Amino acid sequence: MPTSSHSMKIGNITFDRYSVFLAPMEDVTDPAFRLVCKEFGADLVYTEFVSADALVRFVNRTMQKLTIVDEERPVAIQIYGKDPQTMVDAAKIVAESNPDIIDINFGCPVKKIASKGAGAGLLRDIPRLLDITQSVVKAVNLPVTVKTRLGWDDNSKIICTLARQLQDCGIAALAIHGRTRSQMYTGEADWTLIGEVKNDPKIKIPIIGNGDITTPEVAEDKFHRYGVDAIMVGRGAIGNAWIFAEIKNRLLGENRYSVPNFESRKEILKRHIINSIEWLKDERKGIIHSRRHIAATPIFKGIPNFKPTRIAMLKADSISDLFALIDGVREV
Ligand SMILES: Cc1cc2nc3c(=O)[nH]c(=O)nc-3n(C[C@H](O)[C@H](O)[C@H](O)COP(=O)(O)O)c2cc1C
Repeated sequence: MPTSSHSMKIGNITFDRYSVFLAPMEDVTDPAFRLVCKEFGADLVYTEFVSADALVRFVNRTMQKLTIVDEERPVAIQIYGKDPQTMVDAAKIVAESNPDIIDINFGCPVKKIASKGAGAGLLRDIPRLLDITQSVVKAVNLPVTVKTRLGWDDNSKIICTLARQLQDCGIAALAIHGRTRSQMYTGEADWTLIGEVKNDPKIKIPIIGNGDITTPEVAEDKFHRYGVDAIMVGRGAIGNAWIFAEIKNRLLGENRYSVPNFESRKEILKRHIINSIEWLKDERKGIIHSRRHIAATPIFKGIPNFKPTRIAMLKADSISDLFALIDGVREV
């Protein structure tokens, strides 16, 4: 098994060794959050998934999800859908926003998506999945990547065969979340099959490993044990954008990125809330949108008797109340 990382390319974009990507997350990876992650060293950021069906109807709220800014480059816009022609038309609309990469979602396990045959639902219809992939690759002049899971369920972990088939469709990289659709987000991600794909001599495209990376130690273990070209962090980054800096510092053995102290972390959280309000152009909506980050952030871990403050933070619906609560917390 390989033990050291190397630089690699997705299309014409070169990535550093030990690259760490921000996973696409619905309602989480908006431009405000992507920029914070970028600032702390995320090598590639993804938009949340964007519905191809809604894109071809030019639904306003969906079109907004295509907003990207130059500071966050390289950035991937992710699309999902089940109809090859709609996916092609959607990919062409996405290409006009000029992302660096177009990513296709074949991994979303949520019932309303997967049971309708999109996202991970396509893992039950491989010919269609490959048709979509090939058609999108042909339709746009951008690198097309895929993000998927190990298979539909325990009895159909088809990722090793699927990876070769996807490579033959012309994709530029493959991200694998080490769970099946049936597992949803339960149990532990199984990286052994990710490692098998990476070590398949027929696989030449970069393989990005994803699932359960929550600390620099776990990140290091995944790189060294499975030899992946990059790793992708999802939940571990929510309210915790500096995880990218922590991982990269550990793996590159340098203090390349500064990791914020307690007071700076609070400022980053506040800035993120302000950015969300600006993004949604509404104080209440911005605060509600930020609650996932407030709930998940490890900033306040270990503060004695923090529970009532935490509850108050998650209930606050004005900036002044919320910031007073955040400012009031002292490091132990
Ligand atoms: C709130 C949330 C939203 C997500 N939305 C998407 C999405 O839009 N597209 C996608 O490919 N995966 C999505 N995922 C899956 C993540 O990208 C990632 O594969 C999964 O969370 C496992 O990685 P982690 O253990 O690092 O979180 C989502 C996950 C979460 C928790």
